[in-house]
Amino acid sequence: MNRIIKLVKRVTGDITVPGDKSIAHRALMIGAIARGVTKIRGLPESDDCNYTAAAFRDMGIVIRKKGAVTSVKGMGLKGLNDPRRPISAGNSGTTMRLMAGILAGQDFESTLTGDEGLSNRPMKRIVEPLSKMGVKISARDGEYPPLIIRGGAVRPIDYTTPVPSAQVKSAILLAGLYAKGITRVAEKYKSRDHTERMLKYFGSRLKVKGLEVSVEGRKELDGRDLDIPGDISSASFFIAAAILLKGSRIRIKNVSVNPTRAGILKVLAGMGAKVRVVNKRKGFEPAGDVIAEYSETRGMTITKSIIPAIIDELPVIFVLASLSRGRTIIKGAGELRVKEADRISSMEENLKRMGAKIRVEGDDIIIEGIDKLKGAPLDSFGDHRTCMAMAVAAMAAEGESVIEGAESVSKSFPEFFSVMERLND
Ligand code: S3P
Repeated sequence: MNRIIKLVKRVTGDITVPGDKSIAHRALMIGAIARGVTKIRGLPESDDCNYTAAAFRDMGIVIRKKGAVTSVKGMGLKGLNDPRRPISAGNSGTTMRLMAGILAGQDFESTLTGDEGLSNRPMKRIVEPLSKMGVKISARDGEYPPLIIRGGAVRPIDYTTPVPSAQVKSAILLAGLYAKGITRVAEKYKSRDHTERMLKYFGSRLKVKGLEVSVEGRKELDGRDLDIPGDISSASFFIAAAILLKGSRIRIKNVSVNPTRAGILKVLAGMGAKVRVVNKRKGFEPAGDVIAEYSETRGMTITKSIIPAIIDELPVIFVLASLSRGRTIIKGAGELRVKEADRISSMEENLKRMGAKIRVEGDDIIIEGIDKLKGAPLDSFGDHRTCMAMAVAAMAAEGESVIEGAESVSKSFPEFFSVMERLND
């Protein structure tokens, strides 16, 4: 599907964005292996989360939606049924990598498959630690889906992840729930901590000490009720649009501001953007309302240590940097190459078509700000975040742009274009 986008004068108004995708996957998964009912408010209706729900339904878990509440009838740590056919994770890396941790503990053999895109994403990062835990797990060429997992006997490990990745950390912690003893995972830089928060909330014996997390296995979890706040990754596209368009002011209500996720707020402050969080709420996941206004931004240097906290927001940060005063340097962003698309080349290609000055040196990206982008034919490369970031660039560009593959937004934010239209003044 092609989408035509023209220059927008400004964006104004109050909106909400769908519930946080990362938290949603974990709520469904941990709810399914807890004992008793988990009631989830604000579960997003996105493709990725639907794959997670379908996978657990295939394994006998009853998941029902009534109004705004989705209930998951948890069957305990080992309560999943053998689905007797491959489990599809669709295009969802989180579904595949986290589920591998849970399937590692089940007493049946399972096969996890993905669509064409997911079938080319790296899995060795979970195959390696799970094998060390005694799990019989194999991948195509040792690296790619499908994954075949013969679960059952899981041993605890003490593991430092080679790349900071919440998906890898979570797969190990979830497998650790089935191991006798304490499983430890350490990372060099902190990745998002939704699994740790959710497991604790469900009664797990889990400890966080700086960059190290440990969990005690073989303890049943108890179903809980929870509210999923809005996804800051989805919110960031509209925050960026407000910053870029003169006269804009928007409020995005009830957004997750978990510090391991909300690195974009720090980056925006560093760039001189007028963005603030009001009505802050504590809870198992902190949330607040984000207010963003038109601002004249400046370039900055973004160092490697903050990359995990902005990994999904980097595409839209590239767009903002392209229209900021001076130079932005983003260091050590190589992980972007193994997302739904290679987001370094997808963004470089699209932004260059619009006249941006962007250069890639190894894993570093250097962007020289310019005054105006110009409309151009653009490509989502099948990636939801490339698509939404480029939609924001197109809203701020002179002339008309056409984005090919705009249906990709349904992965995380099916309502993206209708919300965007509502904000256009
Ligand atoms: C996610 C972790 C990140 C992120 C992805 C969601 C998660 O991936 O890019 O969109 O929910 O744990 P990595 O763990 O590969 O960095």
